[in-house]
Amino acid sequence: MVDFEKILGTIQEEMSYRDVSGKVASYIPELAKVDPKKFGMHIYCSDKNNYGFGDHEENFSIQSISKVFTLSLAIKHIGSKVWERVNVEPSGNPFNSLMQLEQDKGVPRNPFINSGALVICDILVNILDNPKKELLDFVRKITDNNSIDFNEKVATSELKSGYRNIALVNYMKALGNIKSDVDEIIDFYFYSCSLEMSCRNLAKAFIMYANKGVIPNSGEQILNPSTVKRINALMQTCGFYDESGEFSFEVGLPGKSGVGGGIAAIHPQQYAVAVWSPVLNEKGNSELGMKALERLTTLTGLSVF
Ligand code: DON
Repeated sequence: MVDFEKILGTIQEEMSYRDVSGKVASYIPELAKVDPKKFGMHIYCSDKNNYGFGDHEENFSIQSISKVFTLSLAIKHIGSKVWERVNVEPSGNPFNSLMQLEQDKGVPRNPFINSGALVICDILVNILDNPKKELLDFVRKITDNNSIDFNEKVATSELKSGYRNIALVNYMKALGNIKSDVDEIIDFYFYSCSLEMSCRNLAKAFIMYANKGVIPNSGEQILNPSTVKRINALMQTCGFYDESGEFSFEVGLPGKSGVGGGIAAIHPQQYAVAVWSPVLNEKGNSELGMKALERLTTLTGLSVF
């Protein structure tokens, strides 16, 4: 039996000695205000035991981690038709690359780079009467927590400064891969990114990706096992943009990062883990978060490889 409590204690101590060299995301003005010293981690196991430390109960901006939820919702509604609009290959480029989108003729390389997530948002805006409400309902259900919400300040802050995303969506509209109104898509995308939750809730939200689509409390099947297989494969190959290889190499779990400094990852049949430390490396992923997860899979011996 793995002693998660003891291992988390070791990780907390080891990380307290480590220096970080990166910076908190500042291109979204609201995120620049977050205390760079925040650090929390939470593990939710398949047997429902869970353990955490530090700031693991504090809400933070999950940003691109929300792309896993919007993708899940889109597949739930239109199934494999999603793949007619977005590819499933690693990008090897920054998450907001315009150059790659031009090379790919407006069909994003995968659903986790910004252009791909914008196409997913277009799909949801197109088919749902109230996409924001549906997304909130989905996330509240899988976390079993009705207090989870968007942060309007963060969404508005990004709306005022999100020129690259606005460029990406307009470019795809010009090439025929966007159907709905551009402003509606951008609004829904920035609200999705502004979702806030704690490491505790994020780990709980991700446990269904470790458990073939079943949520722990009610035992309800939210996603079918084949969908979960595909989403996990995408997290493994594309979840960290042009650092996905490094994350696989160091940590060895399917996962997803966000510029709020969060990372969520899963080990099939075993656990979901969420970590938050806002200081980012040059690829836009949490510097300490990646190190903490490397220690987790090394100390527990539990990675998918
Ligand atoms: O669109 C953006 O740039 C942000 N709302 C989300 C980017 C993000 O989280 C990338 N992740 N590491």
